[in-house]
Amino acid sequence: MNLTGFSAGAPLAPHRNPLPKVTMPALGEMKRQGKPISALTAYDYATARLVDEAGIDLILVGDSLAMVVLGHENTLAVTVDEMLHHTRAVRRAVRRALVVADMPFGSYHGAIGEAQANAVRFVKEAGAEAVKIEGPRVELVRALVRAEIPVVGHLGLTPQSVHRMGGYRVQARTLDSVLQLQADAFALADAGAGAIVLEGIPREAAAAITAALPIPTIGIGAGPDCDGQILVFHDLVNLTFAPAAKFVRRYGDAAALFRSAIDGYREDVEHRVFPSDAESYHLPEAARRLLDADGGSQNVRDDDAAMDDDAVVNIDAREETNQA
Ligand code: KIV
Repeated sequence: MNLTGFSAGAPLAPHRNPLPKVTMPALGEMKRQGKPISALTAYDYATARLVDEAGIDLILVGDSLAMVVLGHENTLAVTVDEMLHHTRAVRRAVRRALVVADMPFGSYHGAIGEAQANAVRFVKEAGAEAVKIEGPRVELVRALVRAEIPVVGHLGLTPQSVHRMGGYRVQARTLDSVLQLQADAFALADAGAGAIVLEGIPREAAAAITAALPIPTIGIGAGPDCDGQILVFHDLVNLTFAPAAKFVRRYGDAAALFRSAIDGYREDVEHRVFPSDAESYHLPEAARRLLDADGGSQNVRDDDAAMDDDAVVNIDAREETNQA
């Protein structure tokens, strides 16, 4: 860590996460062994690193970033380039979890060739290990898997269908629609999908599909009987500035933590108690004496160079400098 806070070749603290690497086949194995799959979204280096180090199995660079990171009112506006940018940041942080990139609205709704080219970009340019697509796009899933791109499906409440659904409504509330959902899930599995996110459906429907399906289901608002669970990171830690949905459990209050840190900083600046002398750089003793003696600026020129050296070196040298 250098003085700007960014890595300049100096090693960061080592990762805390236990290997081995989670792969798409490993998720299938977890289902067979009855081991719950933990999944979370992440959109940047710092949060992805925390999520990975905590041992979460799957990290989704969700298009929910359109709302929780970029401030859009729904997920539709985010572009392939924006998703690539965030996927790259997450990829740099993650050693163990499976990194899945959400394909944004419009990037896979036209010709299969175009969708495949977009999916390839997530793997080739951003390091994604799988892509997620919404809806029962069976032929597309088959084509992507044939092109060696693992796919996570997403059924039920699919946020990119918000206009067709007339809002974010719980899906599969009738027997017919549960049976349709089950048929869609089987078709995606048959086409080669490695896992399926089930969102916003009754617990009973998710349980029946999970029990019957050969691949893992990962639920969000789909009850506890899925093979795994996923939440949006910002929901988990209260950073959404909106009331939580019924299925969200808040495990922390990052908004309160950040507010208190920001308020403390502002107050300290306003009362001139930040930074302290201990948080300041000092001239070497000789230069300080010269400066005190005549208050002149010419006499300290030689020592300026020494201080400039201190100003560009890494954290170890910063500690030495602090003793000055
Ligand atoms: O974009 C997203 O965060 C998602 C999850 C809700 C599954 O698709």
